[in-house]
Amino acid sequence: MSDAVSDVPVVRAVKLPPTPRIPKVLQGLAFTVSRRWMVQQLLRRYGNVFTIDFPVYGPAVVVADPRLARQVFTTSPDDLGNIRPNLSRLLGSGSVFALDGDDHRRRRRLLAPPFHGKSVKNYEAVVEEETLRETAHWPEGKEFATLPSMMRITLNVILRTVFGAGGAEFDELRRIIPPWVTLGSRLAILPKPARTYGRYSPWGRLAEWRRKYDAVVDRLIDGERADPHFEERTDILALMLRSSYEDGSPMSRKDIGDELLTLLAAGHETTAATLGWTFERLSRHPDVLAALIAEADTDNHQLRQAAILEVQRVRTVIDFAGRHVLAPVYELGEWVIPGGYSIVVSIAQIHANADVFPDPDRFDPQRFIAGKPPTFAWIPFGGGTRRCVGAAFAGMEMDVVLRTVLRHFIIETSTAPGEKWHARGVAFTPKDGGRIVVHRRR
Ligand code: HEM
Repeated sequence: MSDAVSDVPVVRAVKLPPTPRIPKVLQGLAFTVSRRWMVQQLLRRYGNVFTIDFPVYGPAVVVADPRLARQVFTTSPDDLGNIRPNLSRLLGSGSVFALDGDDHRRRRRLLAPPFHGKSVKNYEAVVEEETLRETAHWPEGKEFATLPSMMRITLNVILRTVFGAGGAEFDELRRIIPPWVTLGSRLAILPKPARTYGRYSPWGRLAEWRRKYDAVVDRLIDGERADPHFEERTDILALMLRSSYEDGSPMSRKDIGDELLTLLAAGHETTAATLGWTFERLSRHPDVLAALIAEADTDNHQLRQAAILEVQRVRTVIDFAGRHVLAPVYELGEWVIPGGYSIVVSIAQIHANADVFPDPDRFDPQRFIAGKPPTFAWIPFGGGTRRCVGAAFAGMEMDVVLRTVLRHFIIETSTAPGEKWHARGVAFTPKDGGRIVVHRRR
């Protein structure tokens, strides 16, 4: 018998997960005020998957089941693209966030080499130097917030290793970038107006900083090209300038500017927030802290690595990874989701899964001593072809910052209740900034 009938693609009827019966205005309000809490409540009520109409992102299916997360992350990027809108609204069309399909594959191939585990080892010395420079000003015996220090360290590290910035450009970028990131991060989750409403409006100020930033990047590019040692330079800007796509074409200046800003925006606040939480957690867990101090005096780092993995699980700073359904319909488990919907993997809720992580609220690095975390149950860096390009870089940076601090300071332990969550827009930080008391080791 002919196969003609079975050759016709069968488009299944849409079948969406349950939709909470909450007025849209209230959904929007709850999402804007406390999206983490809202998603937690709804997942508790509806199981591991529900449908919702998010402000800015529109209709979306939220997923907190590791099996469904695995399916989302391993689906062809031709069927699931990046969530829309995304950070490229702020960073520009040359940002990797803006790219899907072949353009995305090509860009990732271009970015991959400098971010490999082996390449990022070259940057350890810069991280240690920046940590020593920053912590030289830490007060002794007086409580202070570690987050601002961590923000400065991660910013300086990216400016030096990624931008290759030094001298006047380094200082100028250090002035322009922090307020840009703070404001951009807040605006990232709000609708973008059609026009900027003048230079004193938030979007106008962002555009003004961008103009200043572009001028500095132009100078950096010219400086790098003019450097007689250009071929030996190891900063990521030099690697981008030297690299080319498969057809031999280089990245344009505009795309380089957008991408440098992307690496900075994606890599600076996230890493700093995780480090802030690391100090917050360790100061409340004396046994872990004591064992880490003993380990820091050796060349081992098994416990330190496990502690960082556990902080990333129990204090997840990026709460979701999102995709956009490009296919006409997308079958996710038993559900059938129409094209144009977003699929949002709730990273924070997946990390709280008691079947995978017994007693999930407990901070216990021992969970990760025996072995690596399960692939789609521990996902602070997202997954699949869009998995965080800076994961190895962030891992190295957090390890070296923590090692350096433990080698030079005693951190006082505390019985104070844990710090609450604070939403900075994109990343979640400890509300009081990861406050600790330290004494210099003599
Ligand atoms: C602890 C620190 C960090 C965390 C928690 C983090 C988390 C994430 C997450 C959740 C995603 C989305 C992945 C997905 O959609 O599946 C992402 C993407 C990305 N991250 Fe990170 N990140 C961190 C550090 C960094 C660093 C240091 C850099 C670069 C210097 C970086 C650059 C990027 C870029 C460029 C993307 C977009 C990848 C793409 O769309 O292909 N991140 N990150």
